[in-house]
Amino acid sequence: MKANHDLFKPITIGQLTLPNRVFMAPLTRSRSLAPGHIQTPLHVEYYSQRASAGLIITEATQISAQGQGYAWTPGIFTNEQIESWKPVNMAVHQLGGHIFNQIWHVGAISHNVFQPEGKNPVSSSEWTPQGQAFVGNYLPQGPMVAFPRAHQLTRDEIKKIIEDYKHAALSAMKAGFDGVEFHAANGYLIDQFLRDSVNKRTDEYGGSIENRLRLLIEVVEALSSVVDPSRIGVRLTPMGGPGGSFDSNPDAVYTAAAKALAKRGLAYLHVVRPNGHGGNAVDLDQANTIVAKMKNAFDGPFLVNGDFTPQEASLWISQGRADAVTFGRLFIANPDLPERIADNGPYNEPNRATFYGGTQVGYTDYPSRTEH
Ligand SMILES: Cc1cc2nc3c(=O)[nH]c(=O)nc-3n(C[C@H](O)[C@H](O)[C@H](O)COP(=O)(O)O)c2cc1C
Repeated sequence: MKANHDLFKPITIGQLTLPNRVFMAPLTRSRSLAPGHIQTPLHVEYYSQRASAGLIITEATQISAQGQGYAWTPGIFTNEQIESWKPVNMAVHQLGGHIFNQIWHVGAISHNVFQPEGKNPVSSSEWTPQGQAFVGNYLPQGPMVAFPRAHQLTRDEIKKIIEDYKHAALSAMKAGFDGVEFHAANGYLIDQFLRDSVNKRTDEYGGSIENRLRLLIEVVEALSSVVDPSRIGVRLTPMGGPGGSFDSNPDAVYTAAAKALAKRGLAYLHVVRPNGHGGNAVDLDQANTIVAKMKNAFDGPFLVNGDFTPQEASLWISQGRADAVTFGRLFIANPDLPERIADNGPYNEPNRATFYGGTQVGYTDYPSRTEH
């Protein structure tokens, strides 16, 4: 029998039947081509190599120029970007795989160099994130520069962002993705509305938990108006992410978020414990408790992520604590991760130095076992 066999029971996500529960977590690798922010044949190779994942969730993909916060990340809002993703999706499908596009707006975690007309980045409220923006060689003083102060979005500007999410989701479907994952995690725009260390608004988008959840739910409703909800997943992280944002009561906020996302026929809810970015100390016991409450509050397929070993992942599934587990760093280093997990390893070690930016080195050259 296969090792970790609970990970190899087929699973239904919306209209899709997937052969295993070893999913690929979204992983920014900063190898898209500027200035169009498009994918290349290298991306086709990278995702093809990982097509045996039960589901691939792509790297975060900006929904607009305003939604970009890092050098060399892809977009899904221009025709050129749509065209550049098509070969990726065709190749993954030809190999029997499935792939969702993670759609992303960074909010304040950005820099003027990415923003339309060089404006300041936007957020729920005016604030300056801790740390530095990754601008690569877009600026001579790069690759890392201080975050500028974010501008507080007006109601009209929020409406425009909701339209951008819809446009991006439609674009993703045109590009041939099986669905989209709405990135509401890791301290980016949606978290900047959810978390009370950032959201100081006094209108209907701030204050009570219900108000802070408003944008999350409005985007989900907008996305569901253009894409079947069974093709929409949502990612949340109760803790962590760049910029130093936090909530004083993550337990209450994120459980309420999971509850508000239930009964909408969504593809899945995807919850992250630590998010592997480093520098965000997360109390694992506290995270596990919140994750359990979120699972109870939600009614559909429940994906978990964050420092899972294959053994712990298999145990969580056998105990009914999750329906599938997404793996990040293990998938960076092991293109054939499901096969390796089925045989109990061995595993290649990921090299942090080549996570972001660069060439095929540390991207498509990790060997599968047949190449050993
Ligand atoms: C290089 C790298 C890039 C990442 N990019 C994204 C991303 O684009 N979107 C996202 O939601 N999370 C991102 N994450 C977080 C991962 O999806 C995942 O939560 C994290 O790696 C923890 O899972 P792991 O322990 O299986 O690696 C990234 C993490 C790493 C290490």
